[in-house]
Amino acid sequence: MTKPAFTFILLFISMLLETIFSCLITYPTQLYNRQAFAEEKPYYIGNRKCRLCHFEYFKEWEKDPHANAFNRLGKMKNNPYCLKCHTTGYREAQGFVSEKITPELRGVQCEACHGPGSSHKDNPDNKGALPIGRKIDYQRVCIKCHDRNWTPEFNYEKYRRRIEHRIKPKPEKGHL
Ligand code: HEC
Ligand code: HEC
Ligand code: HEC
Ligand code: HEC
Repeated sequence: MTKPAFTFILLFISMLLETIFSCLITYPTQLYNRQAFAEEKPYYIGNRKCRLCHFEYFKEWEKDPHANAFNRLGKMKNNPYCLKCHTTGYREAQGFVSEKITPELRGVQCEACHGPGSSHKDNPDNKGALPIGRKIDYQRVCIKCHDRNWTPEFNYEKYRRRIEHRIKPKPEKGHL
């Protein structure tokens, strides 16, 4: 077998496995979402909206490698296989579609880790409005993208420290 053909088959198999595993991994989160938002499913609104209230987090995120993830794709910016992990909400409700249609969702933004934020934006005081808040096992979120192919040596504690928000949550009226 020629080398390119072999590489292609490997790539194909890994894509297939990816799809199966990512379904298995996200299933519990989907269940959770379904229960919490039976009436209105939150959708993606993009970083600029988060910036309105979380300016310091946004400033910090701009320096994070995740912010640059879309540009990294180079000539592969239309490749659906790549977009899944280098954009926000690809193929989900009002998530990333293409660079032309949804430029505001390029890269791995807040909502790629915290979940679609429409309900939270409309009602930030409702602790249940954000699909992915403080009390969740974030490791499950990370390994959707940081899988064995891309980050074989993934170690949650180590990686989390490198992206950690260093902003101290401001004590606000009514909650800490
Ligand atoms: C399953 C998720 C996933 C898919 C699919 C994916 N990437 Fe990535 N990519 C990552 C992750 C995670 C990293 C960061 C790796 C690290 O440093 O831990 C990354 C890093 C990169 C980098 C930075 C350099 C490097 O190799 O670390 C480039 C360039 C890149 N990806 C291009 C692509 C291209 C082109 C495609 C499509 C052919 C693609 N990626 C598909 C998750 C993915
Ligand atoms: C790569 C994933 C990732 C991205 C992107 C991300 N976050 Fe986070 N965020 C986390 C994790 C993980 C935690 C939980 C930290 C912990 O418990 O150690 C967190 C916690 C938070 C918290 C809770 C308070 C705190 O500091 O613990 C807020 C608020 C927050 N993020 C806002 C944002 C905003 C706004 C953006 C975009 C500008 C963003 N995050 C982007 C992963 C991410
Ligand atoms: C209208 C203002 C507003 C907007 C817009 C907004 N937030 Fe928030 N967010 C808040 C407030 C207020 C809190 C509560 C702060 C606290 O409890 O310390 C909060 C808390 C959070 C938390 C912590 C949740 C937890 O479990 O404690 C995260 C994560 C977060 N926001 C992410 C986002 C993301 C992602 C976006 C954009 C999609 C966003 N926010 C947009 C006001 C906003
Ligand atoms: C939607 C996909 C996605 C999610 C979810 C995600 N990442 Fe990433 N991450 C990437 C991509 C893509 C890159 C490569 C960005 C680049 O180099 O341009 C990356 C890069 C990183 C890097 C820098 C690696 C390096 O070699 O410089 C760290 C650290 C990291 N991610 C940690 C995390 C943690 C921790 C979580 C979970 C809280 C997380 N990521 C969630 C896609 C994701």
